[in-house]
Amino acid sequence: MKILVIGAEGQVGTFLVRDLSAHHEVSGTSLLGAAPYPRLDICDREAVQTYLERLRPEYVVLTAAFTHVDQCEKKPQAAEAINVRGPENVALACRRVQAGLAFFSTDYIFDGTGGPYAESDAPHPLSVYGRTKWEAEQAVAANLENHLIIRTMNVYSYLPGSLNLFMQLVDRTRKGEPVSGPVDQMINPTQAVNLAQALGELVETGQKGIFNLAGTTRLSRVDFVRRVVAELGYDPRQVKSQTTAEMSLPAARPLQSGLKTDKAQAVLKQNKLWDLDTALRFTFSQMSGHPA
Ligand SMILES: NC(=O)c1ccc[n+]([C@@H]2O[C@H](COP(=O)([O-])OP(=O)(O)OC[C@H]3O[C@@H](n4cnc5c(N)ncnc54)[C@H](OP(=O)(O)O)[C@@H]3O)[C@@H](O)[C@H]2O)c1
Repeated sequence: MKILVIGAEGQVGTFLVRDLSAHHEVSGTSLLGAAPYPRLDICDREAVQTYLERLRPEYVVLTAAFTHVDQCEKKPQAAEAINVRGPENVALACRRVQAGLAFFSTDYIFDGTGGPYAESDAPHPLSVYGRTKWEAEQAVAANLENHLIIRTMNVYSYLPGSLNLFMQLVDRTRKGEPVSGPVDQMINPTQAVNLAQALGELVETGQKGIFNLAGTTRLSRVDFVRRVVAELGYDPRQVKSQTTAEMSLPAARPLQSGLKTDKAQAVLKQNKLWDLDTALRFTFSQMSGHPA
């Protein structure tokens, strides 16, 4: 299959390009246009259309987004342009060239009063980021029949240079800097390689519609931080817990969140979603192969 990953330089995009390239003809674009990826701004409808008409991909995976939750709250117009109009542009261009589209969304479309959430639960976003991702889901579904909406959360990986939760923890712990985590946010941490592999299988087997793709273990963020610190060989009791309210964040967080993965697990045959033990074992084995 000829596959285009838009957002190839991002965390999830990096692993998607690596994984899908084993079996498909994969190319990518980035916002900065840094080698090896040409520049493509998803806010530019004409540029998106021209690019897809020239490339003629059979399938597009859209990971590009304005992902900084608190910055989205401060810049709602930019969030709207990138997170809603961008996916709409991509969906319209896919329709024109008859390509399928996998769009990445988030548990932040929910309010966190009743998690973990199934695909059929009613969204009720609390933040600009969550609202724009929910509007994007609707724009994609309204404009393109052959689509996948992938809801994921708390994605992490061993990826030097990335500022994902795991890499920040490794960096701070090794420098002896204090680490903390909210005690009242329930999450399903998701390993990026496992996410990329599961998405690949959904695309290859022609799935459509909404799928939750997340790690299968649900725990509080502070407990996740403690697990990582302990695996690094440090004392997890040094990790301070705090409440989300104490963090005074610009954007509200869904607290009792989490994603149910039964639908995806029933469909996935080769690439089941991992529990936390499996995911951390894999992540630390990657890390020991490439010491930080
Ligand atoms: N990471 C998570 O924990 C998580 C959780 C739930 C859902 N998701 C969703 O999963 C997807 C991938 O996440 P990720 O962690 O890979 O995010 P990421 O690392 O922030 O990557 C997103 C990429 O999109 C690029 N981008 C921003 N604006 C763009 C534009 N106008 N046109 C083209 N590209 C643009 C960014 O470039 P710059 O860096 O240069 O701005 C960045 O490289 C996103 O849709 C996100 O909403 C992620």
